[in-house]
Amino acid sequence: MIPDSFKQDLLNRVDIVDIVERYVPLKKAGTNFSACCPFHSEKTPSFTVSPSKQFYHCFGCGAHGNAISFVMEYQGLGYVEAVRDLAESVGLKLPEFQPQQQKKVDAGPDLYEVLERAAHFYREQLKASPKAIEYLKRRGLTGKIAARFGIGYAPEGWQALEGVFPNYQDKSLKDAGLVIDNEAGKRYDRFRDRVMFPILNQRGSVIGFGGRVIGEGEPKYLNSPETPLFEKGRELYGLSQARLPIRESGKAVVVEGYMDVVALAQHEVGYAVATLGTATSATHIGKLLRQTDEVVFCFDGDSAGRRAAWHALEVSLPLLADQKTIRFLFLPAEDDPDSYVRAHGKEVFEARLREAWPLSEFLLTELKSRVDMNSVEGRSKLIHEARPLLQKIAAPVMQLQMLKQLAEMAGMTQDEAARLCDIHLPAAPRRSSGSEQASQRPSWQAPGRTGDERSALPGRGRGFSGKAALMPERRRERDFLRFVMLVPDLAEKVPEEILGGESPESKVLAHVVNLVESRGVVSTSDLIDLLHGGIEESLVGELCQQVLASRDKEEDIRAEFADALVQAEEGRLDQRIQALMKKAQSDGLNGNEPDELRTLLSQRQNLKGIRSNRPAVV
Ligand code: UTP
Ligand code: MN
Repeated sequence: MIPDSFKQDLLNRVDIVDIVERYVPLKKAGTNFSACCPFHSEKTPSFTVSPSKQFYHCFGCGAHGNAISFVMEYQGLGYVEAVRDLAESVGLKLPEFQPQQQKKVDAGPDLYEVLERAAHFYREQLKASPKAIEYLKRRGLTGKIAARFGIGYAPEGWQALEGVFPNYQDKSLKDAGLVIDNEAGKRYDRFRDRVMFPILNQRGSVIGFGGRVIGEGEPKYLNSPETPLFEKGRELYGLSQARLPIRESGKAVVVEGYMDVVALAQHEVGYAVATLGTATSATHIGKLLRQTDEVVFCFDGDSAGRRAAWHALEVSLPLLADQKTIRFLFLPAEDDPDSYVRAHGKEVFEARLREAWPLSEFLLTELKSRVDMNSVEGRSKLIHEARPLLQKIAAPVMQLQMLKQLAEMAGMTQDEAARLCDIHLPAAPRRSSGSEQASQRPSWQAPGRTGDERSALPGRGRGFSGKAALMPERRRERDFLRFVMLVPDLAEKVPEEILGGESPESKVLAHVVNLVESRGVVSTSDLIDLLHGGIEESLVGELCQQVLASRDKEEDIRAEFADALVQAEEGRLDQRIQALMKKAQSDGLNGNEPDELRTLLSQRQNLKGIRSNRPAVV
């Protein structure tokens, strides 16, 4: 856990405009800055950065957050990594972690340095090894690409690293995974006489190695063990080098081997990354989907490759979004991407990529191949097997499309297939009123942008109807939300009865109040940060836009808030007064009801007085 105080301090020290500007050129637009959004493709800028509120918001795709979330999204980093990255850039040192993570960070900077020194040593050793150079040349690599990937050579001999680390017995060498202690207590280098591929994290620091034997030998690749810095299921080989090409080409290719990545880069296909001898994980896919809209898995054409692809498919389903594409390319069985690109070149490889199977096609074809489509039993089995997969799909349009195809294949109606798969079809959009149609488009979307996938989703969620269409209570809740987001300390004064409602506004409001109270949030950008990726995303996005656009001064917000409090109280009193009056006319009042009515009426009178005097600033 990173203490909130540290995060606060960090956010106070960085300027979001500087941070964003490191990656995206910004133009001044009034008091804000704007650019084409780095998180979705667009031609006219709808990405806005507010220096006064210290956060960004995209009116096109809804991306929003503070400096930390920007670095997370843009660099594809986790929270801790992003905080560390930002902190380092302004010369702040990450505080010590809580006990369970302490090991990691205590060991942190030290291990990075150890690994970097080892990588440097291996690179130097490569220059001195004609044998290793010859091997790499034979595999078609130039010095330039070897340098780009920091490829090195671990020399023969049991303790070569002693030359770099005079204190060869130091614990850090073991922790970094560079040496092995045998039973007799003798220490020796893990990597000997191997071509070394350094594995970098997203910031470009060395976190481990893969070492290949030169020629034949077992194991062909030796990898660093898992260490505090290196977790195989999270890392992708080559991602650091591929980041820019991924952005430029708009896609990422996932392959199986170190050499595949390097050989593709050699042939100017720079956007490839590899899993590290492990199955594709949700973390891997999530990392890539944060950076690009299209991921192509390129596995060997053999049965192992197909199994690996199927696994990747299953892991991808819950991560799918309608604007994202995941595809599968199967090379001929005798090839891997390395041999394929060497034999056929970039153009042919890229042509294959363009024809790669969309996930849906792979899924349905694979399922179809498992059953006898000519029998009733086979077609039933098809539905049975598809059911859990379809249920996992997070993207509604995609899910519907697949259901359609599946129904067709199985010879049933879409409704029947939906029922059997236990999938709720979206209700047909009602066309009776024009305003209903308009409300399909979240109102934070710039006017005139129709027909994109968001507005095209029938019945997806409730859609945030424009302000005019809101019920009065929701409008009031929304006003309170705006006040609290602009001036978080107002949270404690929000009346209880507004927090218990069922509307999205009420839920977000209750959540915000809780965040302010339980986490001691004091700034708007912190609130946005905490709300980011949480409940009611489209409402939150819409609010961000309002908050960004707001030029109100704090005093004015406080005054408006006070006014709203009075109104809310008036509303509450009026309701009760009316109920009592009605009862007085029908059954008559009893018990202490007459007293209550009198008190209410006088309270009501007082409020009137307050209102006519303009409310005091709260
Ligand atoms: P492959 O056996 O397909 O090798 O392993 P390759 O990538 O084609 O390697 P070259 O072309 O013969 O040099 C694919 C990946 O599986 C992991 C490595 O990450 C490798 O890149 N692997 C393979 C190991 O970790 N250890 C091994 O012994 C073999
Ligand atoms: Mn290979």
